[in-house]
Amino acid sequence: MILKLLVMAVVAPSAALAASHEALRSCFENVLTDRGSFAFAGDLFYDRIVNRYNLNIPVTPAALAFPTSSQQVADIVKCAADNGYPVQARSGGHSYGNYGLGGTDGAVAINLKHLKHFSMDNTTWQATIGAGSLLSDVTQRLYHAGGRAMSHGICPQVGSGGHFTIGGLGPTSRQFGASIDHVMEVEVVLANSSIVRASDTKNQDLFWAIKGAASGYGIVTEFKVRTEPEPGTAVQYTYSMEIGNPKKQAALFKSWQAFVSDPALTRKMASTLTVLENSMAISGTFFGTKEEYNSLNLSNKFPGANGDALIFDDWLGLVAHWAEDLILGLAAGIPTNFYAKSTSWTPQTLMTPETIDKMFDYIGAVDKGTLSWFLLFDFQGGYINDIPTNATAYAHRDVLIWLQSYTINLLGHVSQAQINFLNGLHKIVTNGDLPITAYPGYVDPLMPNAPEAYWGTNLPRLQQIKEQVDPNNVFRNPQSPSSAKKEPL
Ligand SMILES: Cc1cc2nc3c(=O)[nH]c(=O)nc-3n(C[C@H](O)[C@H](O)[C@H](O)COP(=O)(O)OP(=O)(O)OC[C@H]3O[C@@H](n4cnc5c(N)ncnc54)[C@H](O)[C@@H]3O)c2cc1C
Ligand SMILES: *[C@@H]1O[C@H](CO)[C@@H](O)[C@H](O)[C@H]1NC(C)=O
Ligand SMILES: *[C@@H]1O[C@H](CO)[C@@H](O)[C@H](O)[C@H]1NC(C)=O
Ligand SMILES: *[C@@H]1O[C@H](CO)[C@@H](O)[C@H](O)[C@H]1NC(C)=O
Ligand SMILES: *[C@@H]1O[C@H](CO)[C@@H](O)[C@H](O)[C@H]1NC(C)=O
Repeated sequence: MILKLLVMAVVAPSAALAASHEALRSCFENVLTDRGSFAFAGDLFYDRIVNRYNLNIPVTPAALAFPTSSQQVADIVKCAADNGYPVQARSGGHSYGNYGLGGTDGAVAINLKHLKHFSMDNTTWQATIGAGSLLSDVTQRLYHAGGRAMSHGICPQVGSGGHFTIGGLGPTSRQFGASIDHVMEVEVVLANSSIVRASDTKNQDLFWAIKGAASGYGIVTEFKVRTEPEPGTAVQYTYSMEIGNPKKQAALFKSWQAFVSDPALTRKMASTLTVLENSMAISGTFFGTKEEYNSLNLSNKFPGANGDALIFDDWLGLVAHWAEDLILGLAAGIPTNFYAKSTSWTPQTLMTPETIDKMFDYIGAVDKGTLSWFLLFDFQGGYINDIPTNATAYAHRDVLIWLQSYTINLLGHVSQAQINFLNGLHKIVTNGDLPITAYPGYVDPLMPNAPEAYWGTNLPRLQQIKEQVDPNNVFRNPQSPSSAKKEPL
C-alpha cells in the first residue's frame, strides 16, 4: 500500500502532463486544419524541428505550431491558454536565450514562418509586412517595391517579429530611428485570443508596450511600417590594428570615443569599434559620397590604425556586404554555444581614460577561457536620442555607445572562465554602478535584475499594462515584465 502511494506520487505529475498534452493535441487538431501543422515533444525529429539557436540553453517546448493565418494564431493561443501553457512567438528564432521557444521547458512556441505576406502602399510608402518575414525578406521586398528601405540590424536571418518589437538598431538608426520607430500600426493576437489592431490612435497602451516589449503582451502577426528611400552612395570604412600592447589599444579606443562623442558629428556616420583576440578595428558605414567622407579626415583621427574604404552605389550590395561581416561570420548563421552581455553609456557616463586603461590591461591579463570572444562597441545617438524615454517601451533613448560582449564555445558548453571574463569586464567598465542597463534584444539569461536593466524607468507602466491585457501571464519568457500585482515567476 505504502509502496503504491509512493509510486503514484512519482507518476502522477507526468501522467497529468501527458493528459494535458493530449488535451492540447486534440485542440490543435481541431484548429490547425488547412495547411497549418504542429509537433509535440517526443515526436520523431522533434529536436531538429525545435532548432535551438543558442545550444548552451537546452529548451524543449511542449509543442510547436505552424499557423498559416492570424485566425490560426488566435486559435492556438486559445488552446494553450485554456490548458495552462505559456506562449511565445518565434519569428527568426535568433533570441540569445531561445525565447522564441519559450526560454524554458514546456511552452507552446508559435512559429510564424508562414506569415510572410508583403504589400506596399505607394502613395504613403508604408509597407505591410507579415511578422514571420526575416530581415533579408524585408530588405529585398522594400527595395523591389519602389527602392525603399527602413532601419534594422545587419544579420539577414534575424526575424522581423523579434526585431521590430524589441528595438532594432542598425547602421541607419542614427538617421531614421530604430525599427520600432518605423512601426506605425500592428495587428496583434491577445491572451484572450482576440485579434486587434494597435497604433497611436487605437489600443494606445498596447501599442506602447509592443514597441519594445511585445513578447510579454501578444503576438504581432503584421506590421505596418514607414519607409525611407534607400540610401544612395555609401562608404564602408575600416581602420584596423593588430593587437599589440594594451596602451596602444587604449589610445585607439580613446580617440574613437572622442570621435563619436562629438555632438557635431553627422548622423550619416555609423561606427563600431570591435575588439577581438588578435585585432581591433573601427569600422562602419558613412552614408554619403567619397568626397564628403574624405573631408572628414578620419585617418588623422585614428593614428596607428590602417585605413581602408570601399564605395557602394547600390543598397542591396551594401546590405550584402554587411552580412559578410567578420563578426556575423563568427556568430550568426549556425547555432553555437555562446553567452553574451550588454551595457551602455550616455554622453554623461562615458568611461574615463583611467577606466579605458584598466579595461585593456584586464583584457591583456585575464584568462578568457577561449580565443573565440569579441567586444562590439556600437555608436548610437542621433535620431534615437530625439525621442523621449517614455514614448515607447524601449527605454534606452539616451544611449551614445552600446557594448555587446560575446563568448563562444565551438566544442561544448560555455565554461565558467568564459562567463567570468565577461562579468569581470562589465564590472570594470560600469564601475560596478547601478542601475545597470542592458539591450533587451541581447538577452542575458543569467542577469538577475533583467526587467529593470532592459526597460528601466518604463517598467512600472509595462507592469500596469500587463495587468490589463494579460492578467494570467500567458505570454512569458524567463525575463518578461510580469504584472504589478503578481510575484515575478
Ligand atoms: C547574429 C545576430 C545579430 C544581431 N544583430 C542585431 C543588430 O544589429 N541590432 C539589433 O537591434 N539586434 C540585433 N540582434 C538581436 C535581435 O534583434 C534579437 O535577438 C531579436 O529578438 C531576434 O528576433 P527573432 O525573431 O529572430 O528571434 P525569436 O527567437 O524568434 O524571437 C525573439 C523574441 O521575440 C518574440 N517574438 C518574435 N516574434 C514575435 C511577434 N511576432 N510578436 C511578439 N513577440 C515576438 C519571441 O517570443 C521571443 O521572445 C542580433 C541577433 C543575432 C543572433
Ligand atoms: C504605384 O503602383 C501602381 C500600381 O502598381 C503603379 O501603376 C504606379 O506607377 C505606382 N506609382 C509609383 C509612384 O511608383
Ligand atoms: C581636413 O584636413 C584638411 C587638410 O589637412 C583641412 O583643411 C580640413 O579643415 C580638415 N577637415 C576637418 C573636418 O577636420
Ligand atoms: C512622457 O512624459 C512627459 C513629461 O513628463 C509627459 O508630458 C508625457 O505625457 C509622457 N508621455 C507618455 C506617452 O506617457
Ligand atoms: C480581450 O482583451 C482585451 C484587452 O484586455 C479587451 O479589450 C477585450 O475586450 C477582450 N476581449 C474579449 C472578447 O474578452
